[in-house]
Amino acid sequence: DSKGMWGGRFSEATDDFVAAFTASEHYDRRLYRQDIRGSQAHARMLARCGVLSEADATAIIDGLAAIAAEIEAGEFPWDPALEDVHMNIEARLTARIGDAGKRLHTGRSRNDQIATDVRLWLREAIDEATHLLRHFQAGLVNLAEREADTVMPGFTHLQVAQPVSFGHHMLAWYEMLVRDEARLADARVRVNQSPLGSAALAGTTFAIDREQTCAELGFEAPTRNSLDAVSDRDFAIEFVSAAALTMTHLSRMAEELVLWASPLTGFIELPDRFCTGSSIMPQKKNPDVAELVRGKSARVHGALNTLLTLMKGQPLAYNRDNQEDKEPLFDAADALHDSLRAFGDMVPALSVNRERTRQAARAGFATATDLADYLVRKGVPFRDAHAIVGEAVAYGVQHGEDLSDLSLETLQGFSEHIASDVYAVLTVDGSMAARDHLGGTAPAQVHQQVAAARARLAGD
Ligand code: ARG
Repeated sequence: DSKGMWGGRFSEATDDFVAAFTASEHYDRRLYRQDIRGSQAHARMLARCGVLSEADATAIIDGLAAIAAEIEAGEFPWDPALEDVHMNIEARLTARIGDAGKRLHTGRSRNDQIATDVRLWLREAIDEATHLLRHFQAGLVNLAEREADTVMPGFTHLQVAQPVSFGHHMLAWYEMLVRDEARLADARVRVNQSPLGSAALAGTTFAIDREQTCAELGFEAPTRNSLDAVSDRDFAIEFVSAAALTMTHLSRMAEELVLWASPLTGFIELPDRFCTGSSIMPQKKNPDVAELVRGKSARVHGALNTLLTLMKGQPLAYNRDNQEDKEPLFDAADALHDSLRAFGDMVPALSVNRERTRQAARAGFATATDLADYLVRKGVPFRDAHAIVGEAVAYGVQHGEDLSDLSLETLQGFSEHIASDVYAVLTVDGSMAARDHLGGTAPAQVHQQVAAARARLAGD
């Protein structure tokens, strides 16, 4: 019973509702690997420092390994009355090895224990997200190369603006993901610190070696202040913040994929295996994966807000509030991983309806700026050129014709500076190829950026 957990201080058992209300075992059991790894490092260190006997340390380390196997086999007797993952494992250890199990918690508290577990877990979650980000990046780069010459309308205000290469658009997405990866890498530096040895809040009276547990657990350095180390969860907030921004990017991509898969534009076809149907409308093929990624961004944004709010009212040092960090953190990481995986597999497998995208670029007077630039090269001031082309566009709208469909005579009616060489700049391909400088949409630039991206992905 719960009275047993806290020993003599209490004169009655914990209220049943309170026991259930304070329990976290049903979700923090997810940290069992990290918890066991941290405990083994702690026991090994205690023995090295002469606080534990070698025999006890060996019994603890082996006992914990057996418990890990038990958990993995689904045979561990999880007990919500034991509150959390830490007490469950410790109680089981003592049941298996006797008194040595009761010595494990020497010089330690659940406060530095949980801070250690979460950091170890989050380090892995970041590495997994990084792996998935790079997988998606590589897929986008391949798609960009395949569609470098594919003309599509570029939009501002969702109105046709100028022709762009579909590959250029994919590389825009790639750039967002490169920054997302850098933010995760930066957050990882501050995640990867060892709080173990901070104990409850002030450190411990035992002569422990924090450098040893730090090194064994693969942390960069031990934290320098015990009060800070057991209480702040800013490292988790940083991760979720980076995840929220990544999800914002994925959500923008999702929005475009949904638009492009709609017959309203008909730009792309998504693979059937990534789409779902309707229970009533037999003709439907819906882009549900993209919509769910857009939807999951809300969960991650919510988790960020939860963690920020969770932290803001807490005085030093540890408060039980922090137990509420786990579910939003796990949920945010799961949503991020699943979304990256979904897009990393789906997006590179889409096919572009190249005739449709070309036609959409042509239909929207996307080369109007090219005509203005042409007039400028013939000596017309840009503002005058802008007005001239505006009149030509109005004429085209009225007669249902693109600029490139207008006869030379008609065009010359708008400006005497127009000659037969104008048609070269009025084609969507010419327009795209002309923006041939760093960051521009010319297919030649897309190919250069593809090569640079491949070198980056292969290199670091
Ligand atoms: N379950 C707690 C958490 O997630 C750790 C245990 C600390 N409990 C305590 N009463 N100090 O933060």
